[in-house]
Amino acid sequence: MQDDEMDGRMSLWQRLALPLYMQIAFGLLLAGVLLAVVAIVVRGQGRRRVLRAMQALVGLSVASCTIPFYLGQLFTPHNPYSVPTAEVLEQGNQLYMRECAPCHGVTGAGNGPAARTLPVPAANFTIPHYATHSQELLFGWTKDGIPGRGMPAFGQRLSNDQIWQVLTYIDELNRKSLGQ
Ligand code: HEC
Repeated sequence: MQDDEMDGRMSLWQRLALPLYMQIAFGLLLAGVLLAVVAIVVRGQGRRRVLRAMQALVGLSVASCTIPFYLGQLFTPHNPYSVPTAEVLEQGNQLYMRECAPCHGVTGAGNGPAARTLPVPAANFTIPHYATHSQELLFGWTKDGIPGRGMPAFGQRLSNDQIWQVLTYIDELNRKSLGQ
């Protein structure tokens, strides 16, 4: 099937591809706006009720887009070593030489001895491309591996802390290779 053929079948919602919580927030806001219009025509006691319902809907709308955002932040892994110490780099170095260098190479160029048998070349950590991935993504790939691509999961072998140490070391490797 052609790509443009697919495009023709997509609804407006699919094209916008808003996350579900944004759609809910938008719906609630829309309902609130409708109630504001109703409040213009309704008089007396009824108007007060409509206005209260409108406030509740707008409040819910704000909550339904901010709460998932902050919850997401809470559960996103963050590198605790964003300012690396010599000790962390040394620990990361040792882990790297033991666990990663066989494939990714001592210098990080992706040319370790074990890399020759892999389905795809081991990633090169000395090029600018490496630094384009977020820390969370690099953490996930190291912990869970990349299925079908020869990158093993280290979640059983290394603690979260050790993963961050080795990633901090690779970051340093990347910066130094690029002369930064
Ligand atoms: C058995 C070989 C092997 C070992 C050992 C290994 N890797 Fe990998 N790794 C790979 C391969 C192959 C890829 C490329 C996968 C791809 O292109 O989809 C990769 C990709 C990655 C990526 C994605 C980076 C990018 O720019 O795409 C990260 C991060 C990574 N490895 C971290 C590590 C860390 C950290 C260690 C050591 C704790 C390690 N790897 C050990 C084979 C290995």
